[in-house]
Amino acid sequence: MRKIRNLTKFNKDFNRNCSVDVIVGGFWGDEGKGKIISYLVNKRQAKIVAKGGVGPNAGHTIVINGTEFKLRMVPSGIGGANVEKLLIGPGVLVNPEVLLKEIELTRTKGKTFLDPQCGIISPEHIKIDTTDKHLTQIVGTSGAGTGPANQDRIRRVLGLARDVEELQPYLLDVPLELHEALIHHEPILIEGTQATHLSLWHGTYPFVTSKDVTASSICADVGLGPTVVTDVTLVFKAYVTRVGEGPLPNQLSEEETRRRGWDEYGTVTGRPRRAAPFNVDLAKRSIMLNGATKLALTKLDVVFPSEAGKNDYDELGKEAKNWIVEIEKKIKMNFHFIGTGPGDIDIIDREEL
Ligand code: GTP
Ligand code: IMP
Ligand code: MG
Repeated sequence: MRKIRNLTKFNKDFNRNCSVDVIVGGFWGDEGKGKIISYLVNKRQAKIVAKGGVGPNAGHTIVINGTEFKLRMVPSGIGGANVEKLLIGPGVLVNPEVLLKEIELTRTKGKTFLDPQCGIISPEHIKIDTTDKHLTQIVGTSGAGTGPANQDRIRRVLGLARDVEELQPYLLDVPLELHEALIHHEPILIEGTQATHLSLWHGTYPFVTSKDVTASSICADVGLGPTVVTDVTLVFKAYVTRVGEGPLPNQLSEEETRRRGWDEYGTVTGRPRRAAPFNVDLAKRSIMLNGATKLALTKLDVVFPSEAGKNDYDELGKEAKNWIVEIEKKIKMNFHFIGTGPGDIDIIDREEL
């Protein structure tokens, strides 16, 4: 077992010298967490991006220098100039086939690692997730096998990464890697998946995912204690979308969704996402549940097409600005990052606010 170094020094110094950003979703997923991470990874010059969350039921789409990547397992920091390690925490379920394909596709062999204690999704879990009546028809799961695998983990019969032969070259003690990065004062990003209102504890039960996915649990997934976190950045989309079953307040008709250009399709399942206008009450509750210190708003350009690609808040038109200010007044927080397109650089950065 590798040694845990300098724990006393770490406890004394980390707060002053480290930057640990946790990025989580504020609605029902697909807010664009991947895009915010692909921007922050270069701004922070992060060497490590570590992923928490459920597993390959999530799909992040990121666009780096015009090239699109759809990632279900590899963390979204692949475009980071300083990134040395992309880590998957022990709380995350892994589908080995998906992971190995993505490592190849993203050419991140030697950078992407998973913890030996990650749970492994088997074909049997996927079969249950795609045939069980309750899961498919009532909950409307993604079919990625994550719920049944977590069920086995709770029964303590789930296979772990440490026991899978083809994963041996990719195993790394993720909490220890993060700990050493903290000691060396290296900036770290922690990537959340799914989102607050899909949380098993805090979401719209039973139409939720198979574990908690708020900031505290995302930190636990990778082995970080709450005292080391610098910022929790909560990501909202300029409208709300939801895939699968469950309530969506003020849901628009399919026709109205298309008319507004808000129609979207799931990255993992290809299912159409239901849509509704930005929801202040849900946003306020998410801020509370995550202890958010910063906010991101994505897809401003979808609601206001004239704002596409802008990088300066002062260049925004009156209508978009008023819309933002009204929401900020109601939620009593500012949007520090505002997305104006799918690319990692399509963003307005007001972090100094
Ligand atoms: P989950 O972990 O599955 O919840 O995913 P996610 O939060 O990373 O979001 P996902 O990538 O599934 O969906 C967001 C979509 O919006 C992607 O296709 C992004 O490329 C796109 N996107 C993100 N930010 C912006 C933006 O500001 N403008 C536009 N036009 N597209 C954006
Ligand atoms: P499961 O997580 O596959 O068990 O699905 C449970 C619910 O969470 C379903 O409504 C899914 O559509 C939803 N869900 C799970 N992961 C994501 C995600 O990453 N984005 C959006 N919805 C998700
Ligand atoms: Mg997604």
